[in-house]
Amino acid sequence: MIIKVFFMMAITLAITITLTMISMHGDSKETRSEPLAVKPFPKRVNRFLAETKNSRSADHCNKDDEICYILEGKNSTCCNNKCMDLTQDKHNCGACKNKCKFTSSCCGGECVNLAYDKRNCGSCGHKCMPGGIVLTDAVPYDYNFNTKCLENPDKPQYNGGIVVNPELKDGLNGWASYGNAKLQVRKSKIGNEFVVANQRNRSFDSVSQEFILNREKLYTFSAWLQISHGEATVLATFGTQRGFYDAGSTIAKSGCWSMLKGGLTVNESGSALLYFQSKNPSIDIWVDSVSLQPFTQEEWKSHQYQSIEKIRKSKVKLQAINSEGKPLANRTLTIAQKFANFPFGCAINKNILANSDYKNWFLSRFKYTAFENEMKWYANERIQNQEDYSAADALLEFTKSNGVQVRGHNVFWDDPKYQPSWVPNLETQKLSDATTKRINSVMGRYSGQVISWDVVNENLHFNFFESKLGDTASSSFYTTARALDSNAALFLNDFDTIESPGDGASSPDKYLQKIKQISDGGYDGPLSIGLEGHFRHLNIPYMRSAIDKVASSGLSIWLTEVDVQPGPDEAAVLDQVLREAHAHPSVNGIVLWSAWSPQGCFRMCLTDNSFRNLPTGDVVDRFIGEFSGAVVTATTDVNGFYETKLIHGDYEVIFKDADPYKFEKYTKPQRISHHLKVEASSSAEDIFRFQF
Ligand SMILES: *[C@@H]1O[C@H](CO)[C@@H](O)[C@H](O)[C@H]1NC(C)=O
Ligand SMILES: *[C@@H]1O[C@H](CO)[C@@H](O)[C@H](O)[C@H]1NC(C)=O
Ligand SMILES: *[C@@H]1O[C@H](CO)[C@@H](O)[C@H](O)[C@H]1NC(C)=O
Ligand SMILES: *[C@@H]1O[C@H](CO)[C@@H](O)[C@H](O)[C@H]1NC(C)=O
Repeated sequence: MIIKVFFMMAITLAITITLTMISMHGDSKETRSEPLAVKPFPKRVNRFLAETKNSRSADHCNKDDEICYILEGKNSTCCNNKCMDLTQDKHNCGACKNKCKFTSSCCGGECVNLAYDKRNCGSCGHKCMPGGIVLTDAVPYDYNFNTKCLENPDKPQYNGGIVVNPELKDGLNGWASYGNAKLQVRKSKIGNEFVVANQRNRSFDSVSQEFILNREKLYTFSAWLQISHGEATVLATFGTQRGFYDAGSTIAKSGCWSMLKGGLTVNESGSALLYFQSKNPSIDIWVDSVSLQPFTQEEWKSHQYQSIEKIRKSKVKLQAINSEGKPLANRTLTIAQKFANFPFGCAINKNILANSDYKNWFLSRFKYTAFENEMKWYANERIQNQEDYSAADALLEFTKSNGVQVRGHNVFWDDPKYQPSWVPNLETQKLSDATTKRINSVMGRYSGQVISWDVVNENLHFNFFESKLGDTASSSFYTTARALDSNAALFLNDFDTIESPGDGASSPDKYLQKIKQISDGGYDGPLSIGLEGHFRHLNIPYMRSAIDKVASSGLSIWLTEVDVQPGPDEAAVLDQVLREAHAHPSVNGIVLWSAWSPQGCFRMCLTDNSFRNLPTGDVVDRFIGEFSGAVVTATTDVNGFYETKLIHGDYEVIFKDADPYKFEKYTKPQRISHHLKVEASSSAEDIFRFQF
């Protein structure tokens, strides 16, 4: 029997990450490059023809749609002196110069992603067959997580799901001892029954139940736990013939019940034994209200779909009126998204400054970033008292002039390995002075110019500053940070919280505990939660449950350093991670950790060295296409109204009277546009009136 001690795992993981980091730099990603997929252009908009001068008279429509109408037929419009079919042209979709993003296609004047659009499944106008997204009769996902330690546990989620006797109302039916533990069913004062595993003498001695798990399914797991004395982390694990799957942990206490929430998927279908582990073998483990709920992939996708419909989109109603305020009935409007609300970014480094291909690739995709190393202490003060901000300054100049928002990464890093080399040997007072100088220097310099700061990076896994300056070191840094840049969001930032249920150092419970410690230590301002997201294997149900848990704090959550270990599943895993994060109601932003270097990226590259997308880059482009670049062709009703649901963002509502008979030949067709902001607070109750 393998005894799994998760504290050891934490150390192993830390070492693995360091090793991965070192080994990755030597990796050449060239072999994985793929030629850019070139999509055939729609028939009538042959790019070669269109770009060749005098190739045909239709290239000189001279802003007159009638010429196009006569030459090309009804759907042709004069765009940029060329006749274009706005229903099909990717570069002029629905309106002139409305370019569809990346892998989107133009169907009926609307930019859609053929991979995900149910109305245009694989090709324009081809509806998805059943087997795409199934929205009916899916068991809704339960996002709740109760942080309170309760006198009596809550009912099991999903009534226990596939757990036999989940509330221990039927004695030990369904349950068995695991290892040396003896089992007992006890009753609380109000008559609640639960099982106690006692006489434990090894970490894994506990209570168990056997399940047959299906590799196609996603399992959400929850239970309520209490221990006989003190406070201890209890981990739920499923053992199979081939190995072990950790499903989640909680910090259990004596005297009250704590909720454990997690989940798992398995590599192979078959039998699995649930059991619980705690490093402390002298405590009894009490268990009640256990739930294991399977979901099909379709159900899981439908949760994501429904969540996106609910949290990332809003209904809007607009009315087109004329200069006298009279409604304009039966008019065609184009609603084109200009800016996507959802913050999605990617790290950059100084290599971008002198590389125009890198610049173009990055700027055509991202409005958010973080600098890979350039704002870190070891980069800014490699030699004591010799500050060098040249790289960070230059990067900030680049981002500012291109409207890209920056996460300040980072003021301090609690990992002893990543201090400037002169720092670890400083005596306490000198170290304290050096940290004061550092925080004032970097935050004073960039205050007001970044949207957020990772103030003490990775202070769940490491405690360099606490060990030298005392337990409240992080707390004091956050207090100073707030005074220096009161508008920026101040983040904690650590790895493994959503990636690895077995890492006890940064479990969601430890994260919540750290937040409490920082406020107990004297910091009374707001905090935000940074989940790095360096994925190795994927456990999507666990990822969702871990976000549910940290979300119970009510704080803003970003995934800050998303990448996936290279391997055959890298792109597929990235795809699932991005989808899950975007669909989670509590995630407010995502930044990828894929700054490019000619020698390779930290772990995950999105392009080859010629900035052609790798499969991971294609995943990113498809993902971007899901919340940006929407173009909708709308027709107002008899009262001038048009109602629809739009993903949050800034839109341009364009009215272009293209009726060739309405205007004298060669007069300018009207094109009037208005700005429309669609936010979470938007609703069909508020009518946007646009005068055309
Ligand atoms: C114009 O567009 C509509 C809708 O996309 C299509 O059904 C129709 O066939 C097109 N007409 C011509 C002449 O191309
Ligand atoms: C643990 O307990 C079992 C039975 O209660 C006993 O047989 C075993 O020797 C004990 N092991 C240790 C390491 O104390
Ligand atoms: C499941 O598969 C992954 C990736 O192939 C592997 O690393 C892991 O050890 C497997 N887990 C078990 C319990 O077999
Ligand atoms: C709206 O316009 C279309 C064509 O432009 C026309 O066929 C239809 O009759 C109009 N409907 C109303 C209510 O005016």
